[in-house]
Amino acid sequence: MEKKMIRISTSLLAANFKHLDKEIKKIIKSKSDWLHLDVMDGNFVDNISFGSNVCKAVSDYPIFKDIHLMITNPTKYALEYINYHADLLTFHYESLKYKKDIKNLIKMIHDNNVLCGISIKPKTDVKVLLPYLKNIDVVLIMSVEPGFGGQDFDENAINKISELRKIIDENNYNCLIEVDGGINDKTSKKVIKAGADILVSGSYLFKSEDMKESIKKLKTNL
Ligand code: DX5
Ligand code: ZN
Repeated sequence: MEKKMIRISTSLLAANFKHLDKEIKKIIKSKSDWLHLDVMDGNFVDNISFGSNVCKAVSDYPIFKDIHLMITNPTKYALEYINYHADLLTFHYESLKYKKDIKNLIKMIHDNNVLCGISIKPKTDVKVLLPYLKNIDVVLIMSVEPGFGGQDFDENAINKISELRKIIDENNYNCLIEVDGGINDKTSKKVIKAGADILVSGSYLFKSEDMKESIKKLKTNL
């Protein structure tokens, strides 16, 4: 069987913001597949990171932009991120109360030719996603409580990834599994084995001496 393609999405949250241009060029040079942009509003999560201004500033770099919205009202702000060249826009299941709102936001993102993802927090059951899996491109499984980089990987994510992998494969859904939080050269093996397609990594990659080698390691060190 052909080996499955694993993508790495490097999280800008762990970069040195004094030198953003240099840091993004380093991410691109290191052959990261995607650039992960964590938008936090200090309300949905207990931290404020950056908003659409930073996404606008990075919009012209030649790399796939993976925007992770950790905000209370994603419907209100989605278009800003779409306009700043999001390739994938992911919002949190927990940030919208009604099924109708979730379906409408998926449609709105797709109508603008952007890929759509839904993320779930560590305590949220994978099964809540069943009504949407057919219509979304990515599920982002949080393996830490969203809000901060540098936290330890929550092992509970492994079972959630396996469960989701099974549902996606059984139904032939065209949906990728992304995992975010505490990914390093040890946890990467476990999540890939469980069925993840895309690995977000911030602290591990920015702390490593050779980002390019570390990205390669995350993908191939199985
Ligand atoms: C956490 C963010 C993550 C974070 C991951 O809320 O969604 O994307 O940057 O960082 P590390 O790899 O340091 O856990
Ligand atoms: Zn993230």
